[in-house]
Amino acid sequence: MSEKCIIRDVKNYVGQTVTIGCWVNNKRSSGKIQFLQLRDGSGYIQGVVVKNEVSEEIWDNAKSLTQESSLYVTGIVREDERSKFGYELTVTGVEIIQVTQDYPITPKEHGIDYLMDHRHLWLRAPRQRAILVIRAEIIRAIQQFFDERGFKLVDPPVLTPSSCEGTTNLFHTKYFDEDAYLTQSGQLYMEAAAMALGRVYSFGPTFRAEKSKTRRHLIEFWMIEPEMAFVDHEENLRVQEQFVAHIVQSVLTNCKSELEVLERDITKLEKCIAPFPRITYDEAVKFLQDNGHEFTWGEDFGAPHETAIAESFDTPVFITHYPTEIKAFYMKPDPNRPEVVMCADMIAPEGYGEIIGGSQRIDDPVLMEQRFKEHELSDEAYQWYMDLRKYGTVPHSGFGLGLERTVAWICGLDHVRETIAFPRMLYRLYP
Ligand code: 4AD
Ligand code: MG
Repeated sequence: MSEKCIIRDVKNYVGQTVTIGCWVNNKRSSGKIQFLQLRDGSGYIQGVVVKNEVSEEIWDNAKSLTQESSLYVTGIVREDERSKFGYELTVTGVEIIQVTQDYPITPKEHGIDYLMDHRHLWLRAPRQRAILVIRAEIIRAIQQFFDERGFKLVDPPVLTPSSCEGTTNLFHTKYFDEDAYLTQSGQLYMEAAAMALGRVYSFGPTFRAEKSKTRRHLIEFWMIEPEMAFVDHEENLRVQEQFVAHIVQSVLTNCKSELEVLERDITKLEKCIAPFPRITYDEAVKFLQDNGHEFTWGEDFGAPHETAIAESFDTPVFITHYPTEIKAFYMKPDPNRPEVVMCADMIAPEGYGEIIGGSQRIDDPVLMEQRFKEHELSDEAYQWYMDLRKYGTVPHSGFGLGLERTVAWICGLDHVRETIAFPRMLYRLYP
């Protein structure tokens, strides 16, 4: 009798016979021996079929297997130091489920458009699997970080009547007879939740109809948005640096083999330990001007600017105190210098750009009222948000981490399109 198991667990069955549901990743043959490279999602293992040791039927079954054929393989688990997976299967049975014909993705090189059209199959490639495993580990580490510190998970709505991050990239839809938007950020709702539960975080999809086609932008991306009552700008930064260091260290500990598949230079990640350096917007502007960039105080940084600034550091760096003019309506001005706000963007190393945007929020009802007028935001849609300043207002702060940019950085990817199973991008809705 054989035990059914998954490849991840074969280490518990050395010397025993197991049956594994799997696909053929690749195959080699030397006439009298066939080497089946098998995968089941949980891992990879080599199945060895020896002609003299199996029936003709099993030998022929194994021979008929093509790339991505599906089967139940039965065999004896052997420890094998030469194998990169540590274990091997001496095959005693091959039960074919389907022999695959003409699999569209071969080990040869394909263009990116072709791969994106076949994203549903491309996911099976070892590299894509490694990325998705690391993404799942990052999500686990995120939830662990907040759960262990008493933050409560709250889910803000996806359909909203108003904007959080300006109106230029709102994703419009109809809500029966009303106009509605897919959420750009759950922040405003998380502020309400923080007034009820103290420390909260959200984890959900957000949408921006960005007309920019860059390697950092998706139309649909996932954001983690903590919001904390009685927390100021300074404490907000401390939470952020501990949070990001925790994510990176968790991946280094728990995803060694996946980082190897991606050939990630982990010495760069190992340096990601809190505290992170901080520079003000003013200092960043001076740095850019001193290093040959044309840049005027009051402008927002573009990707090349962020990269130039980040290059001076091994860890992520905070840029703090941006001009009030270029930041969102809800950010609290510095009391000593109201032309800048108590905010920070966290810029990842190695050119991956902004991964976090955050700030202390305006808590004064009079100033908030004034901002609404300046930004021409309708009183009606934001009345509930004003209530938060009317009934027991308190200092509070929060931030948003972009999951896909974080995955791209930790995995060392050129483009965010590989960081999510089915990316939504400008001009691409399929598959
Ligand atoms: O800086 P952003 O716009 O900040 C907010 O939305 C705040 N309301 C968050 C908060 O304080 N609760 O976005 C936060 C992060 C960015 O730093 C970036 O990592 C990511 O979200 N992001 C995107 N990621 C992929 N594609 C896009 N189009 C993104 N836009 C923002
Ligand atoms: Mg931002």
